Amino acid sequence: MEFVDLRSDTVTKPTPEMREVMAEAEVGDDVYRDDPTVNKLEALAADKLGKESAIFVPSGTMGNLLALLVHCQRGDEVIVGDKSHIYLNEAGGMSALGGMQPCAIPNQKDGTLAFDDILASIRTEDVHHPITRLICLENTQNICGGVPLTAEYTQQVGEIARKNNLSLHIDGARIFNSAVAQNVDVKELAAPADSVMFCLSKGLVSPIGSMLVGTEKFVNRARHLRKMLGGGMRQVGIVAAAGILSLEKMTGRLAEDHERAKRIAEGLRQIKGIIVDEDSPHTNMIFLNLSENASVTMQQIAESMKELGVLIDAEDSRRLRLVTHYWIDDEGVEKSISAFEKALT
Ligand SMILES: Cc1ncc(COP(=O)(O)O)c(C=O)c1O
Repeated sequence: MEFVDLRSDTVTKPTPEMREVMAEAEVGDDVYRDDPTVNKLEALAADKLGKESAIFVPSGTMGNLLALLVHCQRGDEVIVGDKSHIYLNEAGGMSALGGMQPCAIPNQKDGTLAFDDILASIRTEDVHHPITRLICLENTQNICGGVPLTAEYTQQVGEIARKNNLSLHIDGARIFNSAVAQNVDVKELAAPADSVMFCLSKGLVSPIGSMLVGTEKFVNRARHLRKMLGGGMRQVGIVAAAGILSLEKMTGRLAEDHERAKRIAEGLRQIKGIIVDEDSPHTNMIFLNLSENASVTMQQIAESMKELGVLIDAEDSRRLRLVTHYWIDDEGVEKSISAFEKALT
């Protein structure tokens, strides 16, 4: 059966065109910087984000970790959102591998970190204190609803960082979704940050890979650390070719995913037992709860829906995130709404 897979945008398989460019990619040994396709992808990524330089990494998690390792020393403190991917879902890499300590402050409902909370969490110079070195933002903020952070907000956080001699890193796994949703150039969202990580392997459909961008000095150091972590890859132009196609052809179509997410949310709002978050979706993610008196659990719904050809990620018994992406077409939208209807009756 062909499944409509709403679990995540990480499930996106490469398109036939993507497989073709991968098969035909010109390659070399990228540790020697000999792979022309990787070099092209890195130049393209730096240009799109408006930064000096970029490095191709196997995953978003490695990209974020490299950024933290470049910006911080062991014992330093990193200001992060308490609902951020870096804090919750990267296996504690910053502490385990970098000897850093997270200073987690609340993510507001709109995904931001409150200016007062950031300011209050910056350590004063004292022999007892760790040194605050870095602020991390996430754009779009996943757990808060796939919410886009604005360029103005990011600019203000950038100013706080500069005034306090801190760096600013953006986990921009889905920063192109944010740019498209706000109709701004992604460069504006990236401009206040010293470094940005973004993923090719989510809504941009590549099978593997993320990019980390920043100054040339920053990226040179990240390249050294990537090697240390075992992330120096050889003829990886085969994968980078997909990344080029992601940047050239996939960023421009993300609005379709956002539009389909809206239609799914509208459909689900008509179904008794489902309470879609009031302001959802902001981008390609729909968040909802099962009503208190629903007679079935999310796991039971997931099982029924699987039989109907729709996959959902029922980790929580009441709350659910659905994600639209390249492989969810108009028919998939209708099929999803109807599968929910059947599973709840
Ligand atoms: C916001 C965010 N940051 C970082 C990552 C890490 O990306 P990867 O799965 O490629 O390690 C993810 C993955 O889902 C994510 O959602």
